[in-house]
Amino acid sequence: MYRSHNCGELNASNINTEVTLAGWVQKSRDKGFMNWVDLRDRYGITQLIFDESRTDKNVFELAKTLGREFVIQVKGTVIEREAKNKNIPTGEIEILVSELTILNTALTPPFTIEDETDGGEDIRMKYRYLDIRRNPVKNSLLFRHKVAMEVRKYLSDLDFCEVETPYLIKSTPEGARDFVVPSRMNEGQFYALPQSPQTFKQLLMVGGMDKYFQIVKCFRDEDLRADRQPEFTQIDCEMAFVEQEDILNVFEGLTRHLLKEIKGIEVDKFPRITYDYAMKTYGNDKPDIRFGMKFGELNEFAQHKEFPVFNAAELVVGIAVSGAGNYTRKEIDGLIDWVKRPQVGASGMVYVKCNEDGTYKSSVDKFYDNEDLANWAKATEANPGDMIFVLSGPANKTRAQLSALRMELATRLGLRNPEEFAPLWVVDFPLLELDEESGRYHAMHHPFTSPKPEDMALLETEPGKVRANAYDMVLNGNEIGGGSIRIHDKATQQLMFKYLGFTEEEAKAQFGFLMDAFQFGAPPHGGLAFGLDRLVAILGGQETIRDFIAFPKNNSGRDVMIDAPAAIDDAQLKELRIKVDIA
Ligand code: AMO
Repeated sequence: MYRSHNCGELNASNINTEVTLAGWVQKSRDKGFMNWVDLRDRYGITQLIFDESRTDKNVFELAKTLGREFVIQVKGTVIEREAKNKNIPTGEIEILVSELTILNTALTPPFTIEDETDGGEDIRMKYRYLDIRRNPVKNSLLFRHKVAMEVRKYLSDLDFCEVETPYLIKSTPEGARDFVVPSRMNEGQFYALPQSPQTFKQLLMVGGMDKYFQIVKCFRDEDLRADRQPEFTQIDCEMAFVEQEDILNVFEGLTRHLLKEIKGIEVDKFPRITYDYAMKTYGNDKPDIRFGMKFGELNEFAQHKEFPVFNAAELVVGIAVSGAGNYTRKEIDGLIDWVKRPQVGASGMVYVKCNEDGTYKSSVDKFYDNEDLANWAKATEANPGDMIFVLSGPANKTRAQLSALRMELATRLGLRNPEEFAPLWVVDFPLLELDEESGRYHAMHHPFTSPKPEDMALLETEPGKVRANAYDMVLNGNEIGGGSIRIHDKATQQLMFKYLGFTEEEAKAQFGFLMDAFQFGAPPHGGLAFGLDRLVAILGGQETIRDFIAFPKNNSGRDVMIDAPAAIDDAQLKELRIKVDIA
């Protein structure tokens, strides 16, 4: 038996017990005649004591050879500690060691295995198994497990059945590139790894499974960001005989359950806003509503004077920032530089200080009088003491820029409290999105999403105006889930492919199996998928998903620990009949 107890469970009630423990040497303090060692495992730290006068001489000497991260086993007696540590559960006791076995030695770790480590991101990723020994990473993985267990429990209790779908499939378009896998047995042909199990879950509905879920890996070859990994995990769900309302209710219930069980927080019914409202009010389809700073459109109040910049703009829009009224000129200039950075791309910014006495001081006083500025203040819901920041230009771009500024200011002003949770639904997404480069329409969610029946007629005339039965769940400024009611008849699906620019042959070749299935009694159905990594990170108070994934990829999509991706040898290439031609 390697151990009778773990390193986190012994306390004063175990005094005088003989125990066996195993774990890693966190650190040792050798005072010559007395040597203390902190022994660590997943469950905690227990202090060991080697005492010249009470410990066997050989054991005492062996203890002096222990290095950091050695794996050891000890036998000994639980005794009361002289200097107690109230901060850890085992802080009242220590183990007077009688036997010591070194199970394995260890090289000196390249960074300290402590909560605050001296190791940079790269080195920690290369030695991820050492990083996982640190509490912050270990606790994130345990936290993820807890969330996943709650999800499984909640959905199973509602009769959802977890079904595994294949990974070696054909392209499922979710807007990213596919990762492909060559098939040795089918020369010149490739599988695609699923960007999501979308078509399979729909086929499970045709198969009568009624309520499906799966905690499942998805693969997307896209540019990486803090909230994106090339392989990530979805809580993927689908239900038959449902309308949008049924789906929103079930998954709002799940989210509320998680907030309660995991965070101990009760939230009211989630607000629902339309995509159009979100874009106009927050410049963003995933608004952070933990704070205000709603957009106020100012065209009406700003385009009647001689300020050429505003007169030429499609949109003039501002936000009122409380707590910013006393910003210094230097701070304001800093913000103007911030919005002018290429990542944001504004050409300039106008500001209005709302004085306590009801007057205003702006950077465009030459063009606007107090009455004008009072109208701006009203439109942006500014109060005395606030500062209004105004951007102008093409509508979509300007909204995106002001949204970036809104988030930046909220961060600077400490309004994005990670322990506060403000979920909401964004509904009525457009069905199609114009790709400016190709001039073609793409499905905004995916091609299986049902248009709103009342907007169907617009498909011919104004495709950009057609709304979909599609929705996203947003939490603290992050899209954590999205889904839709699906098309479930062949004719509509065929029509949709036509609008998306597929020829009949292309649609048949790529999705014939789905349209065939629709002819065999496909029930009305719909669903959604949450990003598990994102959900867990946000519940854990962070926005970077990497630390909640055991073995993540870096920003170039590499696993630096195992050094993947990597070239494969010629024999393997030959067998797959692949020629690699790198210019
Ligand atoms: P969607 O593409 O919106 O929908 O994805 C669902 C959720 O998955 C998460 N997500 C990601 N998380 C980490 N890294 C990524 N690269 C990444 N991409 C997406 C997001 C997102 O909200 N099949 C549809 C769902 C449906 O219609 O039922 C789908 O995949 O949190």
